[in-house]
Amino acid sequence: MTASSPNRLSADGAAFTVRDARPADTDAFMQVIALADPFNPDPFGLARLVLASPPVPPLSHDRNLALVAEDKETGTFIGALFGGPPRWLFTHPGIDSLPLLDHMVRSLGIINGVAVHPDHRRRGVAAALINAAEQRFTRAGYGLMTVDHEPALDGFYRRHGYTIGDALLVHLPQQRLIGMTTDDTRMSAKPLHPAVRLADVPGAPHRVITGLLPGASLPADAVFDGTRLQY
Ligand SMILES: CC(C)(COP(=O)(O)OP(=O)(O)OC[C@H]1O[C@@H](n2cnc3c(N)ncnc32)[C@H](O)[C@@H]1OP(=O)(O)O)[C@@H](O)C(=O)NCCC(=O)NCCS
Repeated sequence: MTASSPNRLSADGAAFTVRDARPADTDAFMQVIALADPFNPDPFGLARLVLASPPVPPLSHDRNLALVAEDKETGTFIGALFGGPPRWLFTHPGIDSLPLLDHMVRSLGIINGVAVHPDHRRRGVAAALINAAEQRFTRAGYGLMTVDHEPALDGFYRRHGYTIGDALLVHLPQQRLIGMTTDDTRMSAKPLHPAVRLADVPGAPHRVITGLLPGASLPADAVFDGTRLQY
């Protein structure tokens, strides 16, 4: 499935488009997306494998999403976004069954990286890529978008509707709560569905994501006793 957005006119008057990445984009995609994590040698190695595969719904490449932005006039590759299921889902001890993992993979997405060529920044390219990604995940039925980012981008993601945080706490059915945290980066989150909320729970160290899975809506009287949720 290939989706492209209408041409967008940026502040400097130049139009660009956002579309799904194709195999021929691989080298340019890898060069640009690497800017999102410059201190790692090959932070987006998975993207190379993903781009080698044919496009498959529901996202651009099954449960991964690779989007590119290109300058309409010149066809120049100016931005890239790579998203998919958060890797921590596959190793979290609290996700202890395949059906639960499958459900989480279909409900919770992450923007692994978004990057724009330095000559084309501050034209709204990243904003367009993020908006397009959120639309794709929403249409595919996901409930929550997350992004792992540097604290310097707190304001940027806040303006895009994200709640900035250092950890994710997710309420699962049967009063279960799972959490994950990052070292020195943020883990910010944005609901994509009206049933999903970030709730303030007395006693909990971070806001709790509720309503992500069926049977996982937190009642208003829920409290966290330091070990588990009580309600
Ligand atoms: C962050 C990045 C993707 C933004 O791309 P962009 O196309 O310039 O973003 P937009 O034009 O949509 O938005 C611009 C806004 O982003 C914010 N912003 C961009 N870079 C920023 C930075 N380094 N620090 C703080 N805010 C920044 C500013 O608020 C800016 O608004 P302003 O021009 O009014 O000040 C781009 O700077 C980039 O590729 N950086 C390197 C890779 C990276 O850090 N990626 C994020 C990892 S998830």
